[in-house]
Amino acid sequence: MSTDMGAEKRKPLVVAIDGPAAAGKSTVARLVAEKLGVPYLDTGSIYRAIAWLLADKGIAADDEIAVKKILNDEMNIEIEDGRVRVNGTDVTEAIRTPQIDKLVSPVSAHKYVRDSILAVQRKQAENGLVADGRDIGTVVLPDANLKIFLTASAEERANRRCKERSARGEEANYEEILRQVNERDYADINREISPLRPAQGAVILDTTEMSLEEVVEVIAGLAKELEAQNNR
Ligand code: CDP
Repeated sequence: MSTDMGAEKRKPLVVAIDGPAAAGKSTVARLVAEKLGVPYLDTGSIYRAIAWLLADKGIAADDEIAVKKILNDEMNIEIEDGRVRVNGTDVTEAIRTPQIDKLVSPVSAHKYVRDSILAVQRKQAENGLVADGRDIGTVVLPDANLKIFLTASAEERANRRCKERSARGEEANYEEILRQVNERDYADINREISPLRPAQGAVILDTTEMSLEEVVEVIAGLAKELEAQNNR
């Protein structure tokens, strides 16, 4: 009984990690979630899945009526064990192509697209999680215990994306990737709805000179400190 009451008092740990394209958010967030023993939510993959479905159906992102119909009635996104399925089709690899990289920012700039997945994201956070994206600390989970703005120089981010693509056996042209990273940053920072910016109270972490392990250590360390304080 006393154990249960203790568990009740315990606030779920919510960590929001936002930042520009290819900063390493998803790798970092997944490892931090593992360390903390909470689920991980990659919100970028939801926007990518929506972009994939619209492309598959040949629907333009600004066709509000058609897009809303798809979002409300014809879309079932499942994210489980790192795999992403849209209406039963496994799109895990298909949503990481340069074509979707290009489509996703214009798709995610629409309010009706963002609103359609807000409640789902908040519901997932009820029992604690680590989530990464562009607006997690600013809009989706502004009450997160810990907010991180993860960044690195555009050149370093393009380098990381290049290595990731090469490791998957895909073609990777550094100059082209750098151009795309800059274009996507520009679109995400300058959009009207939920623009990319550090949330109030966010810890800004420039990872240009940091290893993956160091970044994970820093964030997990901060989260554990906060959790200990909250439950004191
Ligand atoms: O991994 P990478 O940084 O390339 O991107 P991502 O996290 O998969 O997100 C892809 C795109 O989805 C971003 O460029 C944003 O346009 C959009 N996005 C968003 O608007 N809000 C989020 N919370 C997450 C992603």
